[in-house]
Order: sequence, then C-alpha cells, then structure tokens
Amino acid sequence: MNTIIEPFKIKSVEPISMTTREQRDEILRKAGYNPFNIPARDIIIDLLTDSGTSAMSAAQWAGILKGDESYAGSESFYRLEEVVRDLTGFSYFIPTHQGRAAERILFSICASQNSIIPNNSHFDTTRANIEHSGARAVDLVIDEGKIPSLIHPFKGNMNINKLEKLIDEVGPERIPLCMLTVTNNAGGGQPVSMKNVKDVSEICHSHKIPLFLDACRFAENAYFIKLREKGYKERSLKSIAKEIFSYADGCTMSAKKDGLVNIGGFLGMNNSEWAERSRNLLILTEGFPTYGGLAGRDLEAIAQGLCEVLDEDYLKYRIRSVEYLGEHLVNAGVPIIQPPGGHAIYIDAKVSLPHIPQHQFPAWALVCQLYLHAGIRGVEIGSVMFGKKDPDSGEEIPADMELVRLAIPRRVYTQSHIDYVIEAIGEVFALREKIRGLRIVKEPPYLRHFTARFEIV
Ligand code: F0G
Repeated sequence: MNTIIEPFKIKSVEPISMTTREQRDEILRKAGYNPFNIPARDIIIDLLTDSGTSAMSAAQWAGILKGDESYAGSESFYRLEEVVRDLTGFSYFIPTHQGRAAERILFSICASQNSIIPNNSHFDTTRANIEHSGARAVDLVIDEGKIPSLIHPFKGNMNINKLEKLIDEVGPERIPLCMLTVTNNAGGGQPVSMKNVKDVSEICHSHKIPLFLDACRFAENAYFIKLREKGYKERSLKSIAKEIFSYADGCTMSAKKDGLVNIGGFLGMNNSEWAERSRNLLILTEGFPTYGGLAGRDLEAIAQGLCEVLDEDYLKYRIRSVEYLGEHLVNAGVPIIQPPGGHAIYIDAKVSLPHIPQHQFPAWALVCQLYLHAGIRGVEIGSVMFGKKDPDSGEEIPADMELVRLAIPRRVYTQSHIDYVIEAIGEVFALREKIRGLRIVKEPPYLRHFTARFEIV
C-alpha cells in the first residue's frame, strides 16, 4: 500500500465556521488588511503557525487530569524531568512557559555587550533576546540555504568554514555559546545533518565554546536524518534524536512544536553554575524551579508529547503531508522553497507577483488574497516583518525575501483540508496578475506586522 493515512482517529472535533467571499471582504477590511487582526472564528484553515496549535492525544488529555499541581516538588515535574533527561542526556532541566522564556534566561546569564552568538539562522525571538542582552546575533547558514529554488538535503546546515573564521576573527572568549536551530525555521524549516551537528560541536569544543540546540523541531529533524543521511535508515528515531542531543551541551526548547502541546518549554544544560543562575532568574519571573511558569498538568502533557512525537508512523505522516502540499503546489507552477521543510511550505512571492514592488509588500498581498479567496490564513515573512526604515530618509529598506509561510499544525488537519488549500492556491495563482499591493496607513514603532493597518494601492 502506498497511501499514507493519518495515523490517528478523531475523538473530539471543533467546528469550522464557513464564510462567504463577501463576508471575508468585509472582515479583511475591518482588520485593516492585517490577518493578525482577524478573529480565529472567521478563519477556515489556519496556517498562521505550527506553534501551540497541535491537537493533543487522548493520553495527553488523560495526563492533564493526572497533573500534580503542588507548588514545589510536583510529581509531574519529576516525570517530565525523567523524559527530558532520557532524551537529551543533559544534567539540568529547567521548565519555562515557552521557548522565548528559555532564551531570555539563557542569554541574560551568559551574554553581554561584547558577546557574539552564532547560529545557522536565529529565529526572531532568539535574535531579539540576544540583542536585548547587548550581544550580536550572527547567521552562518550554508549558501545553498539562501537560494529558495535549490534542492539540497540539509539546507539548514551551518557553514563550518564561516564558523571557524568568525572564531578566529573575534576570539573564542567573546562567544559564550554557539547555537544550531533544528530544523531551521527562518530558512524554510530545513534540516541540519548529523555530520554538521558533529562538525559544529567539534569546532566549538576545540575552542571550549558550548553548543546549544534550539531544539523545538528536533523530531522532524531526526526524521529527515533517517530519510536522507547515510547510515541512519535502520536506526530508531529516538536513537537518532538522542545522538543529536549528545553532541550539544544544552538546549532551549519550545515544546509548542515537537512537544505536541499548546504551551510550554524548557532549558536543558550540563553546566551546573549556569543552571543555578538560570534557576535564580526563573524564580524571579517564571516561577519555582519545579513548575517554571506552567501548571503541573502542562508538564504532564509535554512529557507524554515528547514520547509520542518520535513515533515512526507519526513522523512519516507528518513529513509526507507537508511534502504533499509542496509537491502539488510545485505541479501547479507555484514557486516554493525547495525541498519542502518539516513544518511548513514557503511560497516565494517575489517570483510569484513580479508586478508588485517590494515597497508594496507582495507577500503580504498574497496572504490577504488567500484569505479573501478561501479563508486560509498564512503569514508573511517579508518586508512587513523584516523590512527596515532608513533612519535618515525614512525610506523603506526591503527584506531579502518575500515569503508566505503556510505552517501546518500537528495532527489538526486531514488530507481533504490540505486538498482544499492546494485548490485555493491554484485558483489564486491563475488570477495573480490582478492582485494589488498594499500601503501601510498605521504602524507601531516595532514588530509592526502584528498590529499595522493597510490599504490597497
Ligand atoms: N525558536 C524557533 C526556531 C521558533 O520557531 C520559535 C517559535 C521559538 C524559538 C520561540 O518559541 O514561541 O515558544 O516562545 N516559533 C513560532 C513560529 C512562533 O510561528 O514559528 P516560543
């Protein structure tokens, strides 16, 4: 049998409320042409993010009832600590309410004005937390990772020559740690090979620089290694994941992705002094070290999710369903980042809508059109999100790429939902010369994509 089915049955459902094009036209206008302002009840298929949007299993919901809500020493903490220790091998486990809380604590204790933190590509919250500490965030992804149409098995890899050059130039003492994001979200959800993890680890360790993983999609990365890297075909996904972690000295984790939960995260590390300082900061803003800003039931759900996510049938279905969307879009002539990543498909709007100049935000315009046409919500990763303003002239400096990310929530949508998305995008593309650009009429001083308002040019 070649048909890959969703390896689960549906026990509990949430209705989707259908809207007409006329209704969506009004909704979009009211939202100031900003999909972040649209109430979720007015969305038919929500591909805004794969973060915190997973469907939990019956076993996770059972864990929710079992959660121990003790302030100190919760049973659920010990269960999760055991699962994380077994998976990562790190000596210290510190729960946080989500990934960025782990990032903030980590960079508060180890980074300062003079520091430099390399990564394949920093996710935006990681970069923001590093810059908030005064340090500089540097992206060192391989050149192949920056060419959307180029096919390469591990486009998330770090360029190790650039890493060595950076260490030589600035000196290892200015690099408190090096990071690797698995998979590389900012670069299209592309995986990092085991060889690259190992090589980066060796270079770092030869200079006594600790290596931390941004591990939020570690299981999807492990599956790509099994699929594409020599020597891993017969290995269990858990043993591959454990090997990835074995080359690192710590991790930040947003459990909202491969933890298969709606909220949660953690910090893992081997350095006892850093762990002690992290816990002291944790108490200040997140909570006591055995709950870290989460309820006991959340800890229980993460523990169960981390076990379920490494199931072979689940990951096969997961990676294939994203690839299925990508494949059909490519067949319909839609330019996407190739090959499809682990959690999302990224449409190249610069290539798709050459008639819309970057200062009229082509990717944002495409996101709006997808909503208008079919009630699908994607997210722009382009000049609204990453464009800058020239401090002197006030002129817009566009982003490098204009992408529309369609992120697939885990275990939420079935193949017919995805078929609907494929059909809708095909129809939008058939009439794409008619799509018009947008201008900003109101914007906040930072992170403007969340609240800016637009009008059609
Ligand atoms: N690192 C990566 C690679 C991420 O993708 C995210 C979140 C974070 C860290 C931060 O985790 O949200 O739990 O604080 N990414 C989401 C997304 C928001 O839509 O890609 P968080």
